[in-house]
Amino acid sequence: MNRQTRNTVIAGNWKMNLTPSKAKAVIEELKPLVAGKDNCTTILCVPFVDIATAVEAAKGSNIKIGAQNVHFEEKGAFTGEIAADMLLEIGAEYVIIGHSERRQYFGETDKTVNQRVLAALKAGLKVILCVGEVLEEREQDITAEIVSMQTKIALLNVDEEMMKNIIIAYEPVWAIGTGKVATAEQADEVCGIIRNVLSAKYGNTVAEATTIQYGGSMNAANSAELLSKVNVDGGLIGGASLKAADFAVIVGNAQ
Ligand code: 13P
Repeated sequence: MNRQTRNTVIAGNWKMNLTPSKAKAVIEELKPLVAGKDNCTTILCVPFVDIATAVEAAKGSNIKIGAQNVHFEEKGAFTGEIAADMLLEIGAEYVIIGHSERRQYFGETDKTVNQRVLAALKAGLKVILCVGEVLEEREQDITAEIVSMQTKIALLNVDEEMMKNIIIAYEPVWAIGTGKVATAEQADEVCGIIRNVLSAKYGNTVAEATTIQYGGSMNAANSAELLSKVNVDGGLIGGASLKAADFAVIVGNAQ
């Protein structure tokens, strides 16, 4: 973490877990555990139907609420989709875009990721943009190329000013939900590669100011080491964000 130039962000991605009543209970439990831990931004990205309850439950705390996807059109005949202004109106501040599960199971492409990023930023949401290689790509030694390409395409037509509202999450797909965590060195290396892409496109000041998280089996036990790296500015946490006590330890390790 490099707090001199950038904000540390610990975000939970609940994925398709927890009903509104359970979401409320987890947030009530989490609130006192993270109270006063203000050296990082703490976010929970919850299922769409949990957002209103989560926003209410998090009121008066340092927990911010986000969504896990957003459609790229403002409105219209897109059955089952959710628009950015809908998220904003019920109190979501953040949205995850381009998560590998969306890419893998729901046909998300680099192009639609870019469209969603532009729509979310235009509406006033802050974006957590996910990139990451699959195992085969790592084994072929093309991680740098894949992650650089995903980052570049996702940020087409995103200017320097808009970058203030973007967090990038490096999530190696082989480490997600597998218990197989990247080493701190691997995480640091690829977060550094992403920072170099930002530097080439926007210059050093933007690159040094952008928060780049690591995600993939980060938990209470391994978070301190991952977060100790200079290019790892936080975490995007799946499984371990569902339990208040575990998530609070990770937030604590980011202090
Ligand atoms: P896990 O922490 O469960 O591996 O999930 C990581 C992730 O996909 C966060 O977006």
